[in-house]
Amino acid sequence: MRPLLGVVALVTLVSLVSLVSPGLACPAPCSCSTKKNGRLLAECAYRELRDVPRGLSANITILTLSANRLGRLGRASLAEAPELQSLWLGYNRISSVEPGAFAALPHLKNLDLSHNRLADFPWQDLRNLSALQILKLSNNRLAAVPRGALAGLRELRSLWLNDNELATLARGTFEGLPALAQLQLFHNPFDCSCKLFWLKEWAHGSSAVLSGAGSTLCAAPAGLRGRPVTDIPGALCVPPSAQLTYLSGPRDGPTLTLHCSVAGSPPPEIRWRIRTAARRVDIRGPTAARDRGGAEGGRQRFVAFKNGTMAIPDFGKEDEGTYTCLAVNDVGTRDVSVNVALAGSANPAEELPRDDPQAGHAGGHGCAEGGQPHPSAAAEKLVIVYHVPGRARSGAGAREFRLGILPLALGLLLW
Ligand SMILES: *[C@@H]1O[C@H](CO)[C@@H](O)[C@H](O)[C@H]1NC(C)=O
Ligand SMILES: *[C@@H]1O[C@H](CO)[C@@H](O)[C@H](O)[C@H]1NC(C)=O
Ligand SMILES: *[C@@H]1O[C@H](CO)[C@@H](O)[C@H](O)[C@H]1NC(C)=O
Repeated sequence: MRPLLGVVALVTLVSLVSLVSPGLACPAPCSCSTKKNGRLLAECAYRELRDVPRGLSANITILTLSANRLGRLGRASLAEAPELQSLWLGYNRISSVEPGAFAALPHLKNLDLSHNRLADFPWQDLRNLSALQILKLSNNRLAAVPRGALAGLRELRSLWLNDNELATLARGTFEGLPALAQLQLFHNPFDCSCKLFWLKEWAHGSSAVLSGAGSTLCAAPAGLRGRPVTDIPGALCVPPSAQLTYLSGPRDGPTLTLHCSVAGSPPPEIRWRIRTAARRVDIRGPTAARDRGGAEGGRQRFVAFKNGTMAIPDFGKEDEGTYTCLAVNDVGTRDVSVNVALAGSANPAEELPRDDPQAGHAGGHGCAEGGQPHPSAAAEKLVIVYHVPGRARSGAGAREFRLGILPLALGLLLW
């Protein structure tokens, strides 16, 4: 009796596995078919499945698992189907996806994870999905999209992030998506501080359509609640501008004084970046208060005041280098640099033109990324030659030169 039972079981299994297309392995709860275009479809929707079924044909290209009870996707859950182009996982209960679950699907074009319970997503897997065209993550619990998470999805046409818990998005989130035609962001609790102002500008300038822009609303601050994100008043958010000036000739010693005046809204924070032959110093706030306590020695020799003035007492040969002022606010970053070198006995700076109304912000470098400034600013550096005052000069007192108009050629004055 036993051998016969075994044969019956085997026959049942085989008939379950190959229901429609002979030669195409198909998991028992699913129905599989070959579409006209030769693509293989495994249809497993509405089956009350708790896991991705085993036994998929390795050459399956479309897998529908919508409206099941999937709760978690493990790293290997889709390993049987590396040829997948479309994966429909909407209307499940998926709350976690292990990193790597999608990375092994290099041909994936459509990924639907909408209407699940995702508070996180394995964003790093997207780096492997260079063919992705449609990504639906709507109606989940996502509170963030990491900076750069979408970069490199050159085929992505449609991105749904609506009905999540996004309060903000990093500047540049939708950069590097040349094919993007449709973006859905509505029904998220956006905080329309100036950190999000870029989104308004992006929406106005991009060829992609922000679907439901009228429902893409601010939840905060109170004054903007209910207002569309595309309607954040521009006067509140002005990118920083910065201007460096050189205040020469303090009476009390060979101190080099630079002044960085900044403007913008919200008011920019001033940072300094100093590069000399021997050191690299980054100053993120005023150091003057600390200095006043009498910190002697080399470490605190660059004194940054709250008002944007930077003093370098006893400016010497070892302090020659590049002094950069960075103005940073939620809208962006601007940097302006100056090269400082010691002069000989003559003071070539005397010959520099002063107070040119065109001086403006030449030498500055805007930064749209809002993060690290671009190193390319090096090409725009201006040069001042600082003469350590050996004797009192006529008309002593703070003498101000606008650096904006100093041509690079001034570097020649060093020789
Ligand atoms: C899919 O693969 C199976 C074997 O794994 C093969 O028998 C079948 O012909 C393939 N189908 C197509 C459409 O390539
Ligand atoms: C994802 O891509 C990286 C780099 O291209 C590769 O090393 C890795 O093996 C891929 N991951 C999978 C699971 O295929
Ligand atoms: C900034 O403050 C310092 C210290 O109080 C002062 O020496 C300097 O002159 C001020 N700079 C300007 C431009 O007012």
